[in-house]
Amino acid sequence: MSQKRKQARITAPEIQARKNARPIVALTAYHAHTARLIEPHVDLLLVGDSLGMVMHGMETTLPVSLELMIMHGAAVVRGTSRALVVVDMPFGSYEESPQQAFRNAVRIIKETGCTAVKLEGGQRMAETIHFLTARGIPVMAHIGLTPQSVNTMGGYRVAGREYDEWEALEQDALAVAKAGAFSVVLEGMAEPLAARLTKMISIPTIGIGASAACDGQILVLEDMLGLNPAPAKFVREFANLGAVIASAAEAYAEAVRSRSFPSREHTYGMKRQATVPKGRKTDGDGS
Ligand code: KIV
Repeated sequence: MSQKRKQARITAPEIQARKNARPIVALTAYHAHTARLIEPHVDLLLVGDSLGMVMHGMETTLPVSLELMIMHGAAVVRGTSRALVVVDMPFGSYEESPQQAFRNAVRIIKETGCTAVKLEGGQRMAETIHFLTARGIPVMAHIGLTPQSVNTMGGYRVAGREYDEWEALEQDALAVAKAGAFSVVLEGMAEPLAARLTKMISIPTIGIGASAACDGQILVLEDMLGLNPAPAKFVREFANLGAVIASAAEAYAEAVRSRSFPSREHTYGMKRQATVPKGRKTDGDGS
């Protein structure tokens, strides 16, 4: 009997080994069905806490709970079989101590089936990254523009456009690599600095708004599908699903109002041999 072997999921060490090799392709995913559609084309799917803003209409990522991340993370894992699935640790679930981070990362991994987590922060999170990786949890780091720090940053601003910011960001990149992160997201970063960090550290850099100099790229799926009415400068819309959805809804409304939908092909009749019980009316009287 021939047994078809299931293709194994890409692992965190396999992503790490892609340093200076084939560019790493990553996208965010929040649900099973879109994850299933995009998986054949990507190496890594990130269940990002951006889902709070994109899916749930929150103003920032700060209100996102661990439970919400677990719910979406489990959906993405169920919808996929090959890509590495990384789940974001939401604000407040890891900053207090390495122990808190470990407890919550374990919950994410056990309850979603994902195989890695992501957290924001450079030098300040190095001890935590080391604590997690030493205990079997692959960590993707995230430096540069870190949306969970929106209140201390005073908004979302591109990192590294002034040379006097470089030293701290270099230390961040070196610290997360030394602590054992298998890769690091560089978000919203001037190209010369992203290029420098990519050369400087031994783990892959995955850019979002950080230029083509990185070892890989990630975008928020809904942004690149044209579903964000105000996308950032770094987003390329590879499709315009916003227009497709709006015109499909318009066509549906028109079909319902004109009673051209549902038509015969979308309507159930009776079985051909159906017999009418005595006394039963059959002329669509609702009985
Ligand atoms: O939450 C998210 O989608 C992210 C990406 C922007 C990297 O962190």
